Amino acid sequence: MKIAITGKGGVGKTTLTSLLACHYAARGRAVLAIDADPSPCLGPALGFPADKLLELTPIAEMRELIAERTGSSLGEAAGNFFKLNPRVSDLPERFSQEHNGIRLLLLGAVQQGGAGCICPASTLLKQLVRHVMLQRHEVVLLDLYAGVEHLGRGTAEAVDVMLAVAEPTHRSMRTVAQIRALAADIGIERLLLVGNKTGSEADRRFFSENSPGIPLIGCLDASPAAVAADRSGQVLYGLDRQLATDIAAIAERIESALAGTRRTEERSQSFV
Ligand SMILES: Nc1ncnc2c1ncn2[C@@H]1O[C@H](COP(=O)(O)OP(=O)(O)OP(=O)(O)O)[C@@H](O)[C@H]1O
Ligand SMILES: [Mg+2]
Repeated sequence: MKIAITGKGGVGKTTLTSLLACHYAARGRAVLAIDADPSPCLGPALGFPADKLLELTPIAEMRELIAERTGSSLGEAAGNFFKLNPRVSDLPERFSQEHNGIRLLLLGAVQQGGAGCICPASTLLKQLVRHVMLQRHEVVLLDLYAGVEHLGRGTAEAVDVMLAVAEPTHRSMRTVAQIRALAADIGIERLLLVGNKTGSEADRRFFSENSPGIPLIGCLDASPAAVAADRSGQVLYGLDRQLATDIAAIAERIESALAGTRRTEERSQSFV
């Protein structure tokens, strides 16, 4: 299962990713969590100890590796020749760390050129994400910090579901509408909405009333435990029972959404 998580800054993408990672790990599933944030926070949210965090370097910052794999020279700007299909299959094992059944890999951000740039670093990252999405068999959770960067056509098709996270605010819903357009552009078929930081029935209704046509699959209440976990560096999953129950319901709805799509696909195949 491959799940990408996206949404406006600060809405709770990393929190949701960490809760889902713990949920699947607690059920004995192998989990690969990928942090695409330029200032990575998923490791601390998953309770990775300091020594393991120190061992992790974002792939985008590994200049020698990027040069070696893409055949570009160190410090070379975009526009020079380099391989468009660098070898990446060994990278998830080599450069990740594992803690409590969850493997963590940091992608980092490409410094030059912006989101659409074609440079050795962005090529390597896209190839790596493509490899993970198409070839790995764990539950893969991709914490995307901004829009749908790192995903492209071909890779997006391997994403089973993209979760757009929102707070009960119009600003975060505007980002959801932008994500919807970007996701459609690159061929993401299943986009589902998760409401976060809710405190009332009106908050929960806000999402279904303001969703730009994306099905709402659940809400996570604003929780003092989330704030406390952030402050103390503890893992949220074990601290708040209600959140653990709510995340289980969200995981179940993801499964049903996928099962529904598979059934539809099977039905349409049987008519061919
Ligand atoms: N359900 C919740 N209840 C209370 N606080 C929450 C909840 N979810 C997230 N938060 C808090 O909101 C802040 C932002 O959460 P988080 O880091 O998960 O968001 P993000 O979308 O990953 O942010 P960024 O865009 O910076 O990566 C954190 O301080 C987190 O503890
Ligand atoms: Mg984050």
